[in-house]
Amino acid sequence: MRTERGTNLAYISPALNVMMAAARKAGRHLVRDLGELENLQVSMKGPADFVTNADKRTERILIEELTRVRPGYGFLSEESGVTEGADKTHRFIIDPIDGTSNFMHGVPHFAISIALEREGQLVTALVYNPATDEMFVAEKGHGAFLNDKRLRVAARKTLNTALVATGIPFLGHGDFAKFDAELNAIMPNVSGIRRFGAASLDLAYVAAGRFDAFWERDLSPWDIAAGLLLVKEAQGMVSDLSNGTNMLDSGTILAANDMLHPQLLKILKSAK
Ligand code: IPD
Ligand code: CA
Ligand code: CA
Repeated sequence: MRTERGTNLAYISPALNVMMAAARKAGRHLVRDLGELENLQVSMKGPADFVTNADKRTERILIEELTRVRPGYGFLSEESGVTEGADKTHRFIIDPIDGTSNFMHGVPHFAISIALEREGQLVTALVYNPATDEMFVAEKGHGAFLNDKRLRVAARKTLNTALVATGIPFLGHGDFAKFDAELNAIMPNVSGIRRFGAASLDLAYVAAGRFDAFWERDLSPWDIAAGLLLVKEAQGMVSDLSNGTNMLDSGTILAANDMLHPQLLKILKSAK
């Protein structure tokens, strides 16, 4: 892959190749589903069962394709949970559709998210929005790319110009009071806040410099595993909300450039 300047080459490992092919195959079905979902919005039946099936089918295709080429690897996926592999050193972490509510409503902002862990370390990441055909990928130590363009987090140094993404708790999910406190603390300091509804893409957008930062709580490992490697490989800073590295277990995350990260963390920590 060549970048826009033609000077940087994206390093695509054999594993990433396999992940890209699997995501493209599963993604083609999801693009077809979008048309059908428009019809289902106005039908009495509604789109819920259709979406559940699309979710399961996507995960099945991804696991089938990845297993075919990497037979021993284990999985942690949203629909099937933990699947042990013969090879204990490798595991794929999969969210078949991140942004399910968007998908269900025909909003073309959702993604397939796949991360590969080697000996407990995230080494390869893919976040693919089939509706826009945007493929964000990263390899540990080799940078992050959107299609054929190298990614770098935004350079803004001050919060007053920053566009910040977050996730809002919803029916049956998350700590409403905590979110209120954090939102109230962040709002007066930044130029805008966005809730787009797919954590994997929120992180990919930070990696691409579209958003200056992203924070959220109560996430699952498959929401953020791929996205956080994208941000790190785009020279961004990622931590959990205690400024540790326990994002996957704590389900909390703050991603930004190294100037904004400490400023935002301080505000979030002081939020009462
Ligand atoms: C959700 C999205 C959303 C986040 C939720 C996640 P799903 O994942 O990433 O942005 O706010 O916490 O559960 O359910 O669409 O895969
Ligand atoms: Ca998700
Ligand atoms: Ca999902």
